Amino acid sequence: MRAYDVILKKRNGEKLSREEIEFMVGGYVKGEIPDYQMAAFLMAVYFRHLDEEETYYFTETMMRSGEVLDLSEIPGPKVDKHSTGGVGDKTTLVVAPLVASAGVPVAKMSGRALGHTGGTIDKLESIPGFRTELSLEEFIDNVKKYGIAIVGQTGNLVPADKKIYALRDATATVDEISLIASSIMSKKLAGGSDAFVLDVKFGTGAFMKGFEDARKLALLMLKIAQQHGKKAAAVLSNMDQPLGSAVGNSLEVIEAIETLKGNGPEDLKDLSITLGALMLELAGVADFDDGKKILQTKLETGEALEKFRILVKAQGGDERVVDDPWKVLPVAEQVVEFSAEREGYVSKIDAEKVGIASMVLGAGRKKKEDRIDHRVGIIVEKKIGDSVKKGETIAKLFVSDRSDVENALKLLKEAYVISDSPSKPPRVVEEVIK
Ligand code: URA
Repeated sequence: MRAYDVILKKRNGEKLSREEIEFMVGGYVKGEIPDYQMAAFLMAVYFRHLDEEETYYFTETMMRSGEVLDLSEIPGPKVDKHSTGGVGDKTTLVVAPLVASAGVPVAKMSGRALGHTGGTIDKLESIPGFRTELSLEEFIDNVKKYGIAIVGQTGNLVPADKKIYALRDATATVDEISLIASSIMSKKLAGGSDAFVLDVKFGTGAFMKGFEDARKLALLMLKIAQQHGKKAAAVLSNMDQPLGSAVGNSLEVIEAIETLKGNGPEDLKDLSITLGALMLELAGVADFDDGKKILQTKLETGEALEKFRILVKAQGGDERVVDDPWKVLPVAEQVVEFSAEREGYVSKIDAEKVGIASMVLGAGRKKKEDRIDHRVGIIVEKKIGDSVKKGETIAKLFVSDRSDVENALKLLKEAYVISDSPSKPPRVVEEVIK
């Protein structure tokens, strides 16, 4: 078999066999197929797509390129949650302890921030002492003992995706639905859970801007899960404005703790309960509606908050963060206000620009190697539908000496549209697919 012929076949829109897909992915990982041929192959896929069967083979081959975790030592069904990434998306910090407090073990592997979206691992690392790198043994042990662990990727999971994703990033071939679905699902499947809840975002702050594309992505990922004999459900959630108010690491942890105390923003609470109830349903603990009620009670009784305390303590973090997050977490002292130039109503927010503004303050990474500053970020005080007076604060920027404040303010100015008439705020949960 020759890479040239496989590229040609896909370029001409023909269907590839399992062997051809294995040949390309396997050959690339082993260094037998050079970057330029894989890049041409990915571009052919970008224009010609992979059908469901090809996507299945692609996912399967990627998943098997490294270690596939076995979590069977942890009793009961393990349900993982995945978000396609959004601005201010701190739901894992709420959902994981919430679901664990209802008795479903949460063995969660999370990612880091890249570009305009944040990452759970960076957020957790703003808690002094919190260790996100546990050995596989410690990870499993913690889930068995405490019912919860959240770590960065352990082991050698899906090396093929690392290599292919980097190439996609450099060759404008990221935003092809079959490639995104196989990239995400190969990692989820290798993580060893029995079921998956997928939070697929659409809107200005999401990867997939359009609802229909996000829906296609969700359906394809559900199909891949089913092909692998796993249960899954998806939520299509709106990202036309930041989720909650906080964007940036320490600030998002504070907002998540407030939500676990019952004082969080409605959109974050609503999405967290929806995702959590689906996790309970897939774990066979309760149906969706009863699950919502159970989780609401876990918030009210403080059990979810206590589970968060247990998580922090078990992974070496300072548990006083639960009682006094503003004091324990590093937060920049210098605050710059972004205020309204005219009166009216917030009618649009380009959430991606808000995410980039937070990134240029230092809360995110432009490149993988960049270091992030846990102290900085943005608190959005006005969201879609809110009225504003001239000169009123729209957002507060928590800045350090290294923050590019001027650029952040410019981005926020571009992000916000203020109109004369009121707009209806978007609802966060647009559709649940199960
Ligand atoms: N997230 C991933 O893990 N992979 C993609 O291709 C896109 C988003």
